[in-house]
Amino acid sequence: MKPLKVAVLGCGSVGSQVVRLLDEQAGDLTARVGAPLELVGVAVRRLDAPREVKVPEGLLTTDAEELVTRADLVVEVIGGIEPARSLILRALDHGASVVTANKALLAADGPALYAAADLAARDLFYEAAVAGAIPILRPLRESLAGDRVTRVLGIVNGTTNFILDKMDTAGSGFAEALEEAQELGYAEADPTADVEGFDAAAKAAILASLAFHSRVTVDDVHREGISEVTAADVQSAREMGSVVKLLAIAELRGGEAGEAVAVRVHPAMIPRSHPLASVREAFNAVFVESEAAGELMFYGPGAGGSPTASAVLGDLVTVARNQLAGTRGPGESAYAERPVLPMGET
Ligand code: HSE
Repeated sequence: MKPLKVAVLGCGSVGSQVVRLLDEQAGDLTARVGAPLELVGVAVRRLDAPREVKVPEGLLTTDAEELVTRADLVVEVIGGIEPARSLILRALDHGASVVTANKALLAADGPALYAAADLAARDLFYEAAVAGAIPILRPLRESLAGDRVTRVLGIVNGTTNFILDKMDTAGSGFAEALEEAQELGYAEADPTADVEGFDAAAKAAILASLAFHSRVTVDDVHREGISEVTAADVQSAREMGSVVKLLAIAELRGGEAGEAVAVRVHPAMIPRSHPLASVREAFNAVFVESEAAGELMFYGPGAGGSPTASAVLGDLVTVARNQLAGTRGPGESAYAERPVLPMGET
């Protein structure tokens, strides 16, 4: 069987693990897809940067624009808005299917990208964009498509969960817990995206879009981070039998004008008896309430190169199979026009 050509854009902690798994699991991947996946290039900013894996001779390139034109399947793990956005559009335009882990881009401009994938009749899959290795997007989009999801509660940022967990279990203050998170490599030197809830808000927009078949962008999400949470707040919660967690909450609200989706991210006190209270350290979990299934919880590592690469590879197998079969997964039409409440109207 003719190989499918794979291009990887980015060779950081996730990209390098994708490259490693493509090599180490080549036999299994060929069997599962029905054709070999041939790595034809890895686009990087600098050829001489240190990397976690040895990329095979001649495959590193700084010309991502050229690389995407000769791939059947493109994995985008650069992150950020540009050049990721232009490269994804270019890849789709040249007939490639795309797998991305780029939550910021999808949360900002998802509808335009899904529409581009529809126009190109190609797949755009992004399981790795929310909660790392945890399979949550496909269950929301597919397994629960016949049910009626009413609420999604997510601990979708590992860094803030680690900080709040330290404040709860060790009695640390916010600054001390943040410092520990930075020392352990969870939090960035500039922790704003995590601690102020921007990362969780992007993930909340994606979760809400799929759970409620709506077009939710990050601008629709009310956002409050954890930098104002004090040791005293955490202690008071403890005395009340609760724990403070940064929650991404997306829910259906009824009203005179009909149902609408409301999405917010903020620190919340949850009773210790709730399953989300048991999510410790930097783990993630998504708790789903639906009419027929009842309550479901999805739990696991929400970040890190190897766990995130697991989700990327799962998508890659699906889009590769689809391409061989001449078909594609759900596109823009999977989103109905359920209205979204403006930010603040929560
Ligand atoms: N900074 C993110 C987190 C990484 O802490 O969860 C995964 O998106």
